[in-house]
Amino acid sequence: MEQQTITQRKQRVFSAIQPSGVPTLGNYLGAIRNFVAMQEEFECVYSTANLHAITVRQEPAKLRAASHELYAWLLASGLDLEKCIFFHQSMVYAHAELAWVLNCNTQFGELSRMTQFKDKSAKHADNINAGLFTYPALMAADILLYQANFVPIGDDQKQHLELTRDVAERFNNIYGKTFTIPEPYIPKTAARVMNLQDPAQKMSKSDPNQRSFILLTDTPEQIIKKFRSAVTDSDSEVRYAPEKAGIKNLIEIYAACTGKAIPAIEAEFEGKGYGDFKTAVGEAVAALLKPIQEKQKELIADKKYLEECAKANAEKAVRIAKRTMEKVYKKVGLLRF
Ligand code: TRP
Repeated sequence: MEQQTITQRKQRVFSAIQPSGVPTLGNYLGAIRNFVAMQEEFECVYSTANLHAITVRQEPAKLRAASHELYAWLLASGLDLEKCIFFHQSMVYAHAELAWVLNCNTQFGELSRMTQFKDKSAKHADNINAGLFTYPALMAADILLYQANFVPIGDDQKQHLELTRDVAERFNNIYGKTFTIPEPYIPKTAARVMNLQDPAQKMSKSDPNQRSFILLTDTPEQIIKKFRSAVTDSDSEVRYAPEKAGIKNLIEIYAACTGKAIPAIEAEFEGKGYGDFKTAVGEAVAALLKPIQEKQKELIADKKYLEECAKANAEKAVRIAKRTMEKVYKKVGLLRF
């Protein structure tokens, strides 16, 4: 038999996270953990989205620190730089370069329809800058630069990915096939972690009520306390049901942390009160986070090492990005340095 020399290239994934302070349990279970799982199956390219972060006012020193910290959280969570590429968006100039070209191929009307722009401009009425408006074109650049096949994203970014696809298709039609059209990737075990005080809302650290979210830096005592004060219902049965939103959220968190199936969890807490269950959830979360917290602490102590890792990875990213940029500039008729 003929020797098989063609090795199939893995499908490529791109995603990014904004460095906006300490990640929450929602960020971890909903996104970060999934990034880690995907590196086994795909060729993954990840970045911090620090260019996106400056669409709202930032303190420079804090932004720098938050970028290092996020980098350390992702490594501590299990991103393996032998298996994936992970860098800071600002280190690869092509993101900004491609964003400009895509800006010129994105319509004012399309950007005006973005719900995130409408929400954020209402929230930051004193700083409705052009970057906030063209944010989705930069996001499209991130994805298209690496010819990503899949983009793991949450609900709030779906509209931006749709726009990315539209812009890419339009560009391909005008200039000839240039970009891979990316698909959203919805993980099999997508944990959508809700607010502990209002289970109708997504968990978010911008909520003024500190007890409504878990930060990855919370101590076991803080975690257990927050879960013990989580809003549930007047019933007393640990049962997975849509009308029991608070309990449903806690069951999902417990399942995500322990790997137990939902019926098994219901059976485990049959005849027990909410108090026992909430404590168990808090303990499971604390146990899951403990090794990650320890590792992150160790990593963040050595910023030089973190920066070297990011730079080495940015170099790898540049090699991929360069191929796309050369194609794009050529097609558009731009002279290249
Ligand atoms: N806008 C995304 C968010 O705030 C972050 C992001 C930037 C991103 N570029 C991306 C996500 C590209 C996926 C793909 O969550």
